[in-house]
Parts: sequence; structure tokens; C-alpha cells
Amino acid sequence: MIVATVASDRKLDDAQLEPVVITTMRRRHLRNVLRIEEKTSTTPWSLGLFLAEVRREEREYLVALSGSQVVGFAGLLYVVGEGHITTVAVDPAMQGGRIGTRLMLVLTRRAIAHGSDSITLEVRASNAPALALYRRFGFAPSGVRKDYYKDPTEDALVLWAHDVDTPAYADRLSVIESQLPTPLVLEDPITPDASSDDTTELDAL
Ligand SMILES: CC(C)(COP(=O)(O)OP(=O)(O)OC[C@H]1O[C@@H](n2cnc3c(N)ncnc32)[C@H](O)[C@@H]1OP(=O)(O)O)[C@@H](O)C(=O)NCCC(=O)NCCS
Repeated sequence: MIVATVASDRKLDDAQLEPVVITTMRRRHLRNVLRIEEKTSTTPWSLGLFLAEVRREEREYLVALSGSQVVGFAGLLYVVGEGHITTVAVDPAMQGGRIGTRLMLVLTRRAIAHGSDSITLEVRASNAPALALYRRFGFAPSGVRKDYYKDPTEDALVLWAHDVDTPAYADRLSVIESQLPTPLVLEDPITPDASSDDTTELDAL
């Protein structure tokens, strides 16, 4: 899990935002992904790490687009029936506008469709916005990794959402979706192969 900075206390009304579309992260998105990563993480992932991740099997990486602009991203890897969320971040200028909620809705549904019955992640103990987001999605603390994060050093809470493959969890997601002030929009189709259709040269990033 990335090491996140604490979000500002500014909260956006969804009505202020352009329509947001969730789609698979592709190479052409990575320049903007890195820009957000550098603004939201004290130990940002490199281009090479993102590129390796989106190319790997057993991964889901998504972006939220406002027009052609990347405004958020999220990712997950699979380990024997479990989804491990590796990253969630929203452009600081857009935080509080339910983009994180939209990304989590799609990511959790993709994990369930892939066969996951549990999803886990780590989060800084002080990261109130992230904890609020994950709590809504049924994540609860199950342990602490002491001094897991650096710059500044801080414990990680290990959160789990269990039984995500049940009707009750599907209902939870439906309720969250129904509370979005504007519809959840996915690019159609979302392809599982994130890099296959993208001819962007890395040198151009
Ligand atoms: C955590 C993050 C992804 C949430 O995305 P978001 O689009 O801002 O969140 P949403 O608008 O969907 O709101 C989700 C929840 O977070 C809360 N929240 C969002 N921004 C907040 C803020 N600035 N201050 C306090 N709470 C906030 C909302 O109240 C909401 O909780 P609720 O459902 O109980 O009302 C985003 O704040 C972010 O990118 N933070 C920096 C990176 C980070 O910390 N990533 C997580 C690493 S584990």
C-alpha cells in the first residue's frame, strides 16, 4: 500500500465535478497517474513500478477519468482467493468528490467477479479520509504493522473485508452506489489486459 499524505479538509460537492468515468489503467494514463502519486504519497511509486504492475497477471488497475484527465486511480492484486488493494489515490484538488468511492465500487466488484471472498489492505493509522472510505466498504482492522510507514514513521492498520462474495455484501455495494449523486459510469468494455491496446511510447511519458 502506498504511503499517503493526509488529505486536505476540503470537501467537494459532486455537482462541481465533470462526469467521471472509471476504466482500466493503460500506459497512456501513467504520466497523470504519476503526477497524482507524487502529490499523494511520501514514497511514490516509479513509472517502472506502475508499468510492471499494469502488465502483470492477476492485477486490476483502474483510473478515474474526467474528460481525458486522470483524477484518481486504484489497484489490486490477487493472492489465492483474496484481493490485496495496493493503491488508491485521488487528485488532491478532487478529493471529497466521491471519486475514491467510485474506484472502490468498481475495484471490489472486479475482485468479487475474479473469485475473491476477502479483500485486504494497509493504511496509515492516522489517515482518516481513507479509513472513512474503507469502513463504508466493510473493512475492519485486524492487526497493526508497527512502524510500517516511513517519512513520517507510522503504524499501518491491516484492514479486511470478509465474505465479499455474499449477497449481503453485494447489497452493501448497491447501497453505496445508490447514494452517489450521479451515476457510476464505466467505460465499455473494460478489458482485462491493461496494456494490449496502447501504443504510447514510454519516452513520451
Ligand atoms: C482516501 C482517498 C482515496 C478518498 O478518496 P475521495 O474521492 O477523496 O473520497 P470520497 O469522496 O469517495 O469519500 C470517501 C470517504 O472519505 C471521506 N473523506 C474524503 N475526503 C475527506 C477529507 N478531505 N477529509 C475528511 N474525510 C474525507 C468522506 O467523508 C467519505 O466518508 P463517508 O463515506 O463516511 O462520508 C483520497 O482522500 C486520497 O487520495 N487520499 C490520499 C491518498 C490516500 O490516502 N490513499 C489511501 C491510502 S491507504
